Amino acid sequence: MPPRFADRTDETLPLHVIGKQDLAGWLGAQEPEICAWVEANGFEGGRGQALLCPGDGGRPAMALAGHGSETDRARRRFVLAEAAAKLPAGSYDIRTGPEGQALENECFGWLMAGHRFDRYKARESGTARLVAPAGVDAGRIEALAAGEALIRDLIDTPAADMGPAELEAAARDLADSFGASIATVEGDALLERNFPMIHAVGRASPRAPRLIDLRWGNAGPSLTLVGKGVCFDTGGLDLKPASGMALMKKDMGGAATVLGLARMIMALGLALRLRVLIPAVENAVAGNAMRPGDILTSRKGLSVEVNNTDAEGRLVLADALALADEEAPDLIVSMATLTGAARVAVGPDLAPFYTDDDHAAAALEHAAASVADPVWRMPFHAPYEEMIEPGNADLDNAPAGGFAGSITAALFLRRFVGAARYVHFDIYGWNPDATAARPKGGTGQGARAILAALPDLAGR
Ligand code: BES
Ligand code: MN
Ligand code: ZN
Repeated sequence: MPPRFADRTDETLPLHVIGKQDLAGWLGAQEPEICAWVEANGFEGGRGQALLCPGDGGRPAMALAGHGSETDRARRRFVLAEAAAKLPAGSYDIRTGPEGQALENECFGWLMAGHRFDRYKARESGTARLVAPAGVDAGRIEALAAGEALIRDLIDTPAADMGPAELEAAARDLADSFGASIATVEGDALLERNFPMIHAVGRASPRAPRLIDLRWGNAGPSLTLVGKGVCFDTGGLDLKPASGMALMKKDMGGAATVLGLARMIMALGLALRLRVLIPAVENAVAGNAMRPGDILTSRKGLSVEVNNTDAEGRLVLADALALADEEAPDLIVSMATLTGAARVAVGPDLAPFYTDDDHAAAALEHAAASVADPVWRMPFHAPYEEMIEPGNADLDNAPAGGFAGSITAALFLRRFVGAARYVHFDIYGWNPDATAARPKGGTGQGARAILAALPDLAGR
């Protein structure tokens, strides 16, 4: 079930969200009994503090949630969810607190705090529920939350239950829900239809590789989202060690993120011609696996020397990007858990992105800050182009030395895009440390920032 706001009932409690700096002012307008109660309970408006206040007959009359200081808040995307987790079951109606975009972000956080990955284990979901505050666009926030919940659930599902066929089924479900059309090219048909690198990466798995192609909307700017759908990444013959393989069910995080973003776009009914392309494969080990040193000819015609079978993401994305580029959409966005180098450079909280378009970059940075979905621009540094040019082929998928690994991967992808405006995200897709509204596990990165920036990105 997608996260929803609660209905207002007779039992709904008024909630005052109070920051450290605002407590004195708020207390000034309260009865002495309330002031005494708040002081006796040590409520200071600290981040994550929660307190019920009694009214007639000792029954709770209102709730307080601490909003911390500005410096406390700067350390978290969502603050209110932290206090909400400590409130008893029931519904709450915000009467005092943040406004505008800050309030919308906190509402999104509260909805996400109620979401659980419960496919394999029954778990109580968040029981303190929020009534949609007046003035916020509740439908929009629910659309964002449903998209984010989809991203998390897809990533969290283990690879045994989320192979290429199951990822396709998830895309079909989504298409059915919103009247989108969907087509796939599977197995040897990938060769007949000229997707040689998707086939080469996926052919060693008994679970057939495929290209998923979803379309929705028939008016407005054209936006093509391309997501890396490596359902499990063993590394291939260049096998990953156990430590490197442990989390590789998340290697379809780019696919999950573009599906979640597509869900947001479709639920909001945006005037876009949307296309979602997902090369869905398992990078497996078998006698027919691609080998180090093999030279592949890509859909675009560029030859690629496979110097590491573990640099598989850029191979499958290259054929999908070439297809995307053939119809010259207004904007192409790729999202991929592409390199370990990106994770080393910026860690799990920031979504690094690349684009040549300064206007698009500024729009993304601005949107990211306002919707609490942080991004960081990285350079398509031209002097590194030579690093991806080997002796015997046009391109090298894994430059020796590993300098600037995220940049060289991005430069590789850019070779497959022509004139279209292009934005590439090298995301991590996983939250290693639980905080309020952000449990350990799969997580969306960049989707809400892109959504908020879309008017500036695709509409020009
Ligand atoms: N899926 C991995 C990248 C990855 C690893 C993302 C860990 C997030 C966390 C990708 O397919 C990969 O293995 N990349 C290699 C490329 C290298 C061989 C050039 C990497 O980054 O080590
Ligand atoms: Mn890999
Ligand atoms: Zn991978």
